[in-house]
Amino acid sequence: MTLIRRQAARGARGTATRRRANAVRVGALAVMLLALTGCANNTFTRIGFPNPVTEQGKVTLSLWQGSWIAGMLVACVVWGLILWAVVFHRKRGDKLPPQVRYNMPIEILYTIVPFVLIAVLFYYTAKDENTIDNMVSNPKVTVNVVGFQWSWEFNYPQYGVASDGYMWGFGPLPVLEIPVGEVIQFNLTSTDVVHSFWVPQFLFKRDVIPGHPNHFQITATQTGTYTGHCSELCGLYHSRMLFTVKIVTPAQFQTWIAQEKAIQKTASGSTQ
Ligand code: CUA
Repeated sequence: MTLIRRQAARGARGTATRRRANAVRVGALAVMLLALTGCANNTFTRIGFPNPVTEQGKVTLSLWQGSWIAGMLVACVVWGLILWAVVFHRKRGDKLPPQVRYNMPIEILYTIVPFVLIAVLFYYTAKDENTIDNMVSNPKVTVNVVGFQWSWEFNYPQYGVASDGYMWGFGPLPVLEIPVGEVIQFNLTSTDVVHSFWVPQFLFKRDVIPGHPNHFQITATQTGTYTGHCSELCGLYHSRMLFTVKIVTPAQFQTWIAQEKAIQKTASGSTQ
């Protein structure tokens, strides 16, 4: 008799502990969801993503956050069902519960619900991909990006200006300077192997493939200096294939172009 009472007491304690753990978990999730849906902008609400500095990057970020919210809602339902089964259908004796083989409505439900979830995620992914890949016919500035082992060259054909540099550790990095708030088109080409143009703060990367020019456009939303990377293993010094991205005001950009033009004119003049 005392044994049974002791077991019952232990069982009640176990249930209480589980309830507390359950409450803590639900609380943590609620905080996370609130933070995600709120307007706070930090690494936590961006779920590890950098703060985007382009209009296109903001679209990528909201897709990322939306996918996480959808994933967390599914997780809450699954955890809830697991806890419900654990708490309300725990073993109460040695008698087996009724053995059933299937339940048609539930079978249909868990076939249809995942399909709907995937369809919704697919819809938003395709929609955002179209927005990010959208190109207007009259970009303000065009930059021809040339990737090679192991650095970058940025050509501005409208201005006859080329910007290059050294791979990291051998001299100044190549500088990619662009004006804020204007449509910039990038044309990517490679002279040797496959590289990948990546600026983390753009939340975007695109392969630079020999014999297959790639294109994309961005509009920067804030000024600043960032580091661009090569994001495709391209040989010994792949990790040194960095560049500096400078997003400046349109006036500063025009000044920089004029300076670069003057430098290049002097350089070509001295070789003649
Ligand atoms: Cu170029 Cu990695």
